[in-house]
Amino acid sequence: MGAPGGPVSIPEKVRDLMPGMEPISFSTMAIRKQALKEAGYNPFLLHACDVLIDLLTDSGTGAMSSRQWAGMIASDESYAGASSFYRFESAVVDITGFKHVIPTHQGRAAEHILFSNIAKKGDIIPNNTHFDTTRAHVENQGAEAKDLVSQEGLDLEAILPFKGNMDLKILQELVEKVGTEKIPAIMLTVTNNSGGGQPVSMANISGVSKIARANGIPFYLDACRFAENAWFIKTREREYASTPIKDIAQEMFGYADGCTMSAKKDGMSNIGGFLALNDDELATRCRNMEILTEGFPTYGGMAGYDMEAIACGLYEALDEDYLHYRIRSIEYLGEKLISAGIPIVQPTGGHALYINARAMLPHIPPLQYPGWSLQNGLYLLGGIRGVEIGTVMFGLQPDGSEKPATQDLVRLAFPRRVYTQSHVDYIAEIVINLYEQRNLLMGYRIIEQSPVLRHFTAKFEPAE
Ligand SMILES: Cc1ncc(COP(=O)(O)O)c(C=O)c1O
Repeated sequence: MGAPGGPVSIPEKVRDLMPGMEPISFSTMAIRKQALKEAGYNPFLLHACDVLIDLLTDSGTGAMSSRQWAGMIASDESYAGASSFYRFESAVVDITGFKHVIPTHQGRAAEHILFSNIAKKGDIIPNNTHFDTTRAHVENQGAEAKDLVSQEGLDLEAILPFKGNMDLKILQELVEKVGTEKIPAIMLTVTNNSGGGQPVSMANISGVSKIARANGIPFYLDACRFAENAWFIKTREREYASTPIKDIAQEMFGYADGCTMSAKKDGMSNIGGFLALNDDELATRCRNMEILTEGFPTYGGMAGYDMEAIACGLYEALDEDYLHYRIRSIEYLGEKLISAGIPIVQPTGGHALYINARAMLPHIPPLQYPGWSLQNGLYLLGGIRGVEIGTVMFGLQPDGSEKPATQDLVRLAFPRRVYTQSHVDYIAEIVINLYEQRNLLMGYRIIEQSPVLRHFTAKFEPAE
């Protein structure tokens, strides 16, 4: 029987016998059907123990190294001025080169502090593609979150090296049209999570920087996956082929004036983040807000041991062997799916593979959420949890109306240092099997939702 009050009946067996281990929970289709129904057909609301392979996110789900744990055991938990903070700060400054480092409990807290201090009603924040939390924080200030990803990035199947690039011509035109006073910052998300995890080239980062500097507009990186982006620059931008990953990362940051960071990604930690920037006056305002919302500026929302994990993790993310294995695993899954005829975003991304649910399930209209149907199908068939990046996530408009998102994708995101090739083979088998019976999948309708970031908590029922 499941935990008291829990929805499911996976045997407790190993779970209780081996605290700290993650047993593999083999479950039957009948158990998963019941679990999903009790979760309002929303995989975010499942109990994680009822998931066999969890590809919901790569955020905070990685395995930490023995070095990270060693640092955590030796952490300094002083409220103010902890040595763990100074180790964290020095790693961030070393890699990013930014002057001020403001720790936060995760990436969205850095976004909240930044946008509350720079954006106001009527402003525009350009980005290649805003991630959902970034968009929500921009819109929460009454500003417009404008996506300017290049035309290439919108072509899901074009095999091109840097589909996360921003369209520099459109950016330039936007600056000329609306004027610099309406653009308090330009952002660039590396890699472009909501656009298929596609990388941004160094040439494009430098191009955005040139436009920003020529117009006196601050330029920020959403740096969650900076190391994966650096790997793609090394392997796809010829002049960087023999440049060490750390040097590439430093150069990327060197073009910007600051960054927001969720350390749950390329910080290799389970929690944490930061805002880093060069502007002294803005940093003071941000620190004042941090005290109000996160905590004292030498811990933000983190424990000393979290800062130790990040201080070590930021360097581990730059390890070339690790990056090679990680990015090749996802590419290998992509090759298997492509050879079975499954439409995926190509090339595969740094942290995830994205299935084009709209193309795979043309019989489900976008407003019946083909991505949602596909992610639920993967769970029912094989206990795999992915996440919809589509109309449920982006379709709700600020005025409460709904329209189809540009794309309906299902993201299979890989936790860092967790899954091996045999897991990947199992995933491929399930996706291919589901593809073969795709006509059986049906759409959904929403029966309960929140006005922002609705995908996290919405409840659904099958449309027919
Ligand atoms: C590109 C991007 N930006 C920002 C965030 C927000 O980070 P967090 O989940 O730590 O708040 C995420 C999280 O997935 C992300 O992928």
